[in-house]
Amino acid sequence: MNKIAVIVSAVCMLLTPLVGIAANPEQDLKDFRSYFTDRFPETPLHDFINGVYSVDKASREQWEAFEEFPPYEIYVDKGEALFNKSFKNGKSLASCFPGVKNGVKQNFPFFDTKRNEVITVELAINECLENNGEETLKWQKGKMAHLSAYIAYKSRGKKGNVKIVNSDESMQWYERGKKHFYAKRGQLNMSCADCHVNNAGNRIRADVLSPALGHTSHFPVYRNKWSLASKSGDGMGTLHRRYGGCNKQVRAKPFKPQSEEYRALEYFHTYMSNGLTLNGPGIRK
Ligand code: HEC
Repeated sequence: MNKIAVIVSAVCMLLTPLVGIAANPEQDLKDFRSYFTDRFPETPLHDFINGVYSVDKASREQWEAFEEFPPYEIYVDKGEALFNKSFKNGKSLASCFPGVKNGVKQNFPFFDTKRNEVITVELAINECLENNGEETLKWQKGKMAHLSAYIAYKSRGKKGNVKIVNSDESMQWYERGKKHFYAKRGQLNMSCADCHVNNAGNRIRADVLSPALGHTSHFPVYRNKWSLASKSGDGMGTLHRRYGGCNKQVRAKPFKPQSEEYRALEYFHTYMSNGLTLNGPGIRK
């Protein structure tokens, strides 16, 4: 072997383990998806968008009956009205989301390469309001959830198309979200994956646990539980509201909605359902 060949092969040997552990979102997605399709061979891939009802036939009928007269419909209408309402300067939220009629949700969250951060639908809504001198909204429910529901509704039928940008900064956000998903936390010392991967389809107290594949496709959701907790009966809530609830289930302190931590989690979590059809808003227990 000549000198150069020796150096090249030495460098390759050094690099191999590094390449092996480097983030590989595409491979992650493949592994994630095949875990669930192998585990639930009777559930067609496209049906995972229906959450727990994709693996729990017993509760599916009741849920399908709910979906015939969906309680989220009035909130989609409220969201539409707000979306088109003129700001004081004559513009509207519609000016910030020009493509909404053809669906935009499939591209969210996205990595903004100028700002080096993940942008969610809800963040973009509040930034639009702020930039136009309007009052911003609370993050997790009420008007924000109605607007998010309208945007989701207009994107129904599109396929999740989150892009993990190939830059160090974007990979850091992706890795942070992935870490949150697999890290044990709280007094119960459980990770998202413990419940929604390892125990998907199993029962925990009164609930059957949903598979994490397809989790994000139908957000925001109307929950009966949230409706009962609200004076007006408005049961709409965003994905970050749900994250907070699930962090609390294991008695961990939830992060703030739209914090970097939850945006990173949303980046990873939504990417794992890429290619599945969007069907938001949804209805859940
Ligand atoms: C102790 C178990 C447990 C842990 C840990 C947990 N969850 Fe959940 N989660 C539940 C239960 C129970 C529900 C309601 C039934 C269902 O849909 O799975 C739920 C529901 C959800 C839903 C709504 C599913 C749908 O179809 O609308 C999402 C999204 C979710 N969890 C995400 C997460 C994320 C992300 C984490 C980690 C931060 C997490 N969960 C941690 C128990 C858990």
